[in-house]
Amino acid sequence: MNRAIPLTESIHWVGANDRETELFENLWPLPHGVSYNAYLIEDQRTALVDAVKGPFLSEFLDRVRERLHGGRRLDYLIINHMEPDHSGSLRYLLHLFPDLILVGNAKTMDLLKGFYNITDRTHVIQDGDGLDLGSRRLEFAFTPMVHWPETMMTFDSRDRVLFSGDAFGGFGATDLGLFDDEIDQVFFEDEILRYFSNIVGRYSPMVLKAIDKVSRWDIGIVASTHGPIWRRDPHRVIDLYARWSRHETDPSVVLAYASMYGNTYRQVEHLARALTEAKVPLKIHNLSRSHASFVIRDIWRARGLVLACPTYNMGLFPLTDNLVRMLENKQLKNRFLALLGSYGWAGGAMKTLTQFAEKSHWQLIDPVVEAKCAPAAADFENCRRLAAAITARLGI
Ligand code: FEO
Repeated sequence: MNRAIPLTESIHWVGANDRETELFENLWPLPHGVSYNAYLIEDQRTALVDAVKGPFLSEFLDRVRERLHGGRRLDYLIINHMEPDHSGSLRYLLHLFPDLILVGNAKTMDLLKGFYNITDRTHVIQDGDGLDLGSRRLEFAFTPMVHWPETMMTFDSRDRVLFSGDAFGGFGATDLGLFDDEIDQVFFEDEILRYFSNIVGRYSPMVLKAIDKVSRWDIGIVASTHGPIWRRDPHRVIDLYARWSRHETDPSVVLAYASMYGNTYRQVEHLARALTEAKVPLKIHNLSRSHASFVIRDIWRARGLVLACPTYNMGLFPLTDNLVRMLENKQLKNRFLALLGSYGWAGGAMKTLTQFAEKSHWQLIDPVVEAKCAPAAADFENCRRLAAAITARLGI
């Protein structure tokens, strides 16, 4: 049964859980699903805040109709974010609820026309405007580029609920727990960071501006469009997003390697052993097995990254190349980089990775370790030197 779930007496979660989609945006694996959160506010007038992806209309409607029984009309849909995982059902909603007015900003309207050719039954708001629902007023704050140009947040000043759009959201279906007092926090923090680092993190400066802007509100509940709702400790998720956006890191290292025939891996193993003996917190990813989204999540937490890569056609191994391009796009700051690799008949990978360090303004740790063909004793010795330099850099 698709039940609406109360946040407060007059606000219900009416969203949907998706455990069918393999890849979010056809890019990011969803081993634990994702939720499309939508909320229904019942006052003298009724308002939905955001909607769901098109294929999830049915369960969403079950929940909305459970609340709007007796033919109660739906007055407004507040569109905090236009990406189709939230707006895909809009045309159907306009058809099913003949009084419905779509509320958004000028950029929202531009996207409404572009995606759905919708130009009427709209109400355009300005930054700082409000909307009176009867016993409460909704207040709007534009938070552009978190992570689309039209993104905004809505605050219910009576029930103190911040509807934050994608900000403060994460992967993971909410059948695992809808509220922060119901969930496994460690599990969800990983999935929230994987969402943040891959979807929103590039726009960290805009996230910090948004957090600053909404800090004027006395927030009691954070209700985003993906993942858990934060009612016991609403500032926990805001603080996490702020920390990640400021590029604050742990004194730890991610070792992301690729190895075709094991010659790079033998050095990785040697380096990893020296790092663990030095008590350096370490995560290891084999890029041929770990999807980049998990690697990027772990890199976002760590101060240091070791890229271990064989030369492939005089350049980077393709999976390392993919990761490096993604990291360039994410614009991470305040990290250091260590390099190791191997080559058979011509090098090239270390040169490309050195250029990546320079371009990203990451500190490159000396020495760069590279074996010709199979690693020899001198290469293993260089791995130990590299481990010592990383340990020193972390102050461990
Ligand atoms: Fe959840 Fe940016 O869409």
